[in-house]
Amino acid sequence: MLKIGILISGRGSNMQALIDAARQKDFPAQIACVIANDPDAKGLERAQAANIPTSVINHKDFGKDRQKFEQVLDAKLVEAGVQLVCLAGFMRLLTPWFVDRWRDRLINIHPSLLPAFPGLHTHQAAIDYGVKFAGCTVHFVRAEMDHGPIIIQAAVPVLSDDTADALAARILEAEHKIYPQAVRLIAENRVNVMDERVFITNAGAPPQIAYNPADGSPLAKSAAAQ
Ligand code: GAR
Repeated sequence: MLKIGILISGRGSNMQALIDAARQKDFPAQIACVIANDPDAKGLERAQAANIPTSVINHKDFGKDRQKFEQVLDAKLVEAGVQLVCLAGFMRLLTPWFVDRWRDRLINIHPSLLPAFPGLHTHQAAIDYGVKFAGCTVHFVRAEMDHGPIIIQAAVPVLSDDTADALAARILEAEHKIYPQAVRLIAENRVNVMDERVFITNAGAPPQIAYNPADGSPLAKSAAAQ
């Protein structure tokens, strides 16, 4: 069983997806601890309800000293026997010290098809750009924000009348599927990083082409042809 530690800052719906997955008998990972950097993070209650040990390490207690904050975080993870750290809506940038210490044992989920739309307000940015597909990415963390070898992505269509909230909800549903799947692949030792690219053992073949709008498909009957 791979022991994972989950870091959260907010509502923790991705954390919940990992908790739900870990409840399944055949899931090869267990959640050793949930740590929040914000004492008001709603996800803390959800973790406690699932009987998972929780802690708060409030970054505000450390002022500008990021390294001290991270040393305490690191010590807590080590103490809990964590082998893989999962950022789940953890909204603190981690320094190269922490990122290097947990290199290839630290993953993040981001609600865009990276490297497009890193950072905040990704859903509105995708709508404003006019992309026809958006999605989410699970990746190993590197020091640059929302950057690092990509483990899994899921794509969802962007609809012409989408609001940021509607798109976020569609993407979130995909996030809840791919985050547990990424943890499973890692726990099953099927994820290899080579030259900053991820290769998955026995990955299977994904669907070849998706179209949006559906009328973009060569299979769609155009009005002119009728
Ligand atoms: C999720 O959409 C996650 O992808 C995003 O924050 C949300 C957290 O929701 N993370 C980032 O934007 C990281 N750059 P949750 O607390 O319900 O899991």
